[in-house]
Amino acid sequence: MLILGIESSCDETAASVSLDGRRILSNVVYSQIDMHALYGGVVPEIASRKHAEKITAVVRQAVEEAGITFSQLDAVGATCAPGLIGALLVGANFAKACSLMLEKPFVPVHHIRGHIAANYVAFPELEPPFTALVASGGHTLIIDVSDYTEMTVLGTTRDDAAGEAFDKIARVLGLPYPGGAALDRLGQEGDSGRYRLPRAVVTGHPYDFSFSGLKTASLNLIHNAAQKGEEIRREDLAAGVSLAVAESIVPRVAAAAREKGRDKIAAAGGVAANSVLRAMLERECRKAGIKLYLPPLSLCGDNGAMIACQAYYEYLAGNISDSGQNCYANMNVSDSFKNYQ
Ligand code: KG4
Ligand code: ZN
Repeated sequence: MLILGIESSCDETAASVSLDGRRILSNVVYSQIDMHALYGGVVPEIASRKHAEKITAVVRQAVEEAGITFSQLDAVGATCAPGLIGALLVGANFAKACSLMLEKPFVPVHHIRGHIAANYVAFPELEPPFTALVASGGHTLIIDVSDYTEMTVLGTTRDDAAGEAFDKIARVLGLPYPGGAALDRLGQEGDSGRYRLPRAVVTGHPYDFSFSGLKTASLNLIHNAAQKGEEIRREDLAAGVSLAVAESIVPRVAAAAREKGRDKIAAAGGVAANSVLRAMLERECRKAGIKLYLPPLSLCGDNGAMIACQAYYEYLAGNISDSGQNCYANMNVSDSFKNYQ
């Protein structure tokens, strides 16, 4: 079964063709990051307009690179939630128009389910059930994935997402947007023990996160040093931030997997590219006898392959929609688009 998957929830215009879910025949990503970097963050209006400009070329390229014609597609999927509403609407409406012309089903896909599915693309042997960690610019989630389309959120952030904290601290350190990857690189030469940074605990919610304290503490360190005319050791702070995020996330994911009796953990989302987080996940999982799935960096960020893959499983589960399907800025990953039509 050939499925075209379209992703446009934030600042990547992406499309991909999957064969029976797992085989990716093409994966085209147009990143708008350079544009948004000028403003230090994603500007929603610009994101929508860029998606509108690029979507036709990106989709055409994805179909061509797959070596097929549009008429061979069996279904068209697109991210319909969560994300920037104007950005989502561009990809979803383009996908609906394709499905109308081709007289093939339209499959709405939850962006976070897509991130998890990046693991199915990377690891052909991976099957649910497992515990998923999704850490991106907008989300930090621990999810129990009992089946391809059945999942329960076990933990979430109470304030900022890990990626948001990384990006904000990176910005104040003078790194270009989005600063997560640059901060990670900077920290690799640093001493993570120099600055003592907080690790928050959410009382009564062992799997929940809070990163706003880490953000504030880091910004205070930078500002206080500036006021005193002192130089902050940027690489040490960067190393400390990556360590604080990893130490906040890894024990919680491992504990959640243990509690649910899962022997597999799959990581996903842009922050899963962080080197300290990856190394700590590897160490902790080895110790706990848990098999760890870490997708390659190219599949951690937003892409079309993850949507084309998840669309296949949504299709199998009967989660198809029609031309009336809308998009939603927020939606729980455990919810069904059937409740959103
Ligand atoms: O999943 P993603 O590409 O987009 C969203 O759906 O948000 O995640 C983007 C986030 C940004 O906050 C970016 O700074 C962060 O992932 N990121 C990293 C690294 N690479 C990307 N954060 C820490 N370390 C990295 N190596
Ligand atoms: Zn994402």
